[in-house]
Amino acid sequence: MLRIGVLVSGGGSNLQAIIDQIEEGNLKNVSINVVISNKKDAYALQRAEKYDIPTKVLLRKDFSSKEEYDLAMFDLINSFNVDIIVLAGCLFILPKIITENYKNKIINIHPSLIPSFCGDGFYGIKVHEEVIKRGVKITGATVHFVDEGTDTGPIILQKAVDVEDDDTPEVLQKRVMEEAEWIILPKAIEMIAQDKIAVREKKVLKK
Ligand code: GAR
Repeated sequence: MLRIGVLVSGGGSNLQAIIDQIEEGNLKNVSINVVISNKKDAYALQRAEKYDIPTKVLLRKDFSSKEEYDLAMFDLINSFNVDIIVLAGCLFILPKIITENYKNKIINIHPSLIPSFCGDGFYGIKVHEEVIKRGVKITGATVHFVDEGTDTGPIILQKAVDVEDDDTPEVLQKRVMEEAEWIILPKAIEMIAQDKIAVREKKVLKK
């Protein structure tokens, strides 16, 4: 059984996609052992509660320094004894103490085809705003392992999505979620659960 901890900040539609695949029996030998949020009103928490998945909220404002907060987050994750951490709309940057201790054990879903439209400042709807502004015709989503950089880790899966002339950022965001994110995130977890991939020299290869 692959034990996963899911880190969220918002709506949790990617969390829901993982839950659905587990419920439908398509994602075998995977259990979500905790959902952790840095926002107390994240709708993702309600989604988890509906399935009796333990939830935790850790707010930066309850700690006097970032170091204390980072350590508390690290301790909290450790206490659930998870095999991998899944960032599913997690909009805070993980500290070094977590990325170093969970090397190649953290995956992230990003709403573009990395290395386009990624890195500092590119998250959520902002990604789609920039895609439309630049006039690219194809965008998509990427699942990758998380290293100490922002969106720089080894790429596991990508899926392309067309950009239409009359897209608004919201319309494009929805299409990227439906046609790419909700498919490749559970798929990447399945590949890890079935021990099908390995990281070699910063690249993900099939075993
Ligand atoms: C998703 O589009 C996800 O790819 C993005 O935030 C959204 C969260 O939606 N993540 C990032 O931008 C990370 N850099 P959700 O809460 O409904 O899953």
